[in-house]
Amino acid sequence: MSRKRRRHLQGKLLWFGDQMSLNVEKIKEDFPIFLRKIHGKRIIYMDSACVTLKPRQVVEAMNKYYEYFPACAGRSSHKLGRETSDQINNSRKTLQRFINAKSVNEVIFTKNTTEGINLISNSLKLKGGDVILTSDKEHNSCLLPFQLLKRKGVRHEIFKFGNLDDFQSKLTKDVKLVATAHTSNLDGTSNPIRNIIRLAHENNSLVLVDGAQSVPHKKVDVRRMNVDFLAFSGHKMLGPSGTGVLYGKQDLMERLNPLFLGGDAVKNSTYNNYEIEELPKKFEAGLQNYAGIIGLAEAARYLTKMGRDNLEKHLINLNELITDAFQNLDIEILGGTKAEKRGGIISFNMKKINPHEIAGILNESSNIMIRSGMHCVHSWFNAHELKGSARVSLYAYNTREDCGVLIKEIMKIHKLLL
Ligand code: ALA
Repeated sequence: MSRKRRRHLQGKLLWFGDQMSLNVEKIKEDFPIFLRKIHGKRIIYMDSACVTLKPRQVVEAMNKYYEYFPACAGRSSHKLGRETSDQINNSRKTLQRFINAKSVNEVIFTKNTTEGINLISNSLKLKGGDVILTSDKEHNSCLLPFQLLKRKGVRHEIFKFGNLDDFQSKLTKDVKLVATAHTSNLDGTSNPIRNIIRLAHENNSLVLVDGAQSVPHKKVDVRRMNVDFLAFSGHKMLGPSGTGVLYGKQDLMERLNPLFLGGDAVKNSTYNNYEIEELPKKFEAGLQNYAGIIGLAEAARYLTKMGRDNLEKHLINLNELITDAFQNLDIEILGGTKAEKRGGIISFNMKKINPHEIAGILNESSNIMIRSGMHCVHSWFNAHELKGSARVSLYAYNTREDCGVLIKEIMKIHKLLL
């Protein structure tokens, strides 16, 4: 074995342990926050579907921009400006590889998933009579932008998330856009996305996928999916907040008009007119969040090194532990009892106590940080006459010990309520 190959394998072992599972203790060393104690106790962070923690590699990459080349990309031709441009170009290439896009021109940097979805909903120029099809389990970000279009006479139809038969029955010839989450932030279940995309294309409908909860947790390959548009955020995949990506097939994105105009989005302008830039610049008006983009690319490299298949397996293993314990306590889990269908999410309700109280007790007793409420999916909870849920969401830095502490605390709450 060559020395290079041996070094490569040793590096992998550091990350994956010898079972090709994640070496979580090693990963945790990259997160300085785990050195922190609150009221003398360690932090057990289980709110990663909302925001993940950040490894030092991401923070260092961002600091490097601010400390060594805090200039503007694509405009200034001095040495610092060129360095910034190179870094942003490299970051775009990293994100292109991360989702397997065909061209760097298909990667548009945004500030989050919400911005990407709003960009498409506005730029498609749908008209009265056109139909947008979303599921009944969309985050507000993939629901409200389309409700706004009702003012123009665009109709909005809803299919049952995860139900292909229901999807097909709603897929009429007037459906111009299907916009739906790949994975639900409410319960972690996923749509049969490749079938949805195939059927939509057979119907000549475009598909916009909200990848906010899928891209951070599993391999998402835009070419295999054949998706038209995909939006995701940096803050849920170890990257900085205020960063995201909108992927769009080049031929489609070339035909769309930008939502914003301004610096670097045009080639030329007069007092009366302007000439719009090529992709990707035409969708990135104004000075960008360069440090954030560089941090996002570093997060993508970190996840690639970790292996998203390994991450997915790790999350399901932990989910199984919690699911088994919760089932023994007769706790209701949204999205069903099969852990492998819910990735890293356990969204649950207990009798005689509301979700905010559960989250509050876990926070106070053991620094277990989870989210409670409607998770920005008010529409689904309202339709099901539920006040919300308590949501545990796991990531690469969660251990079996973390799950053990959670289970112990939930058992205590359960006993108190008997
Ligand atoms: N969408 C984020 C969540 O699910 C805010 O928590």
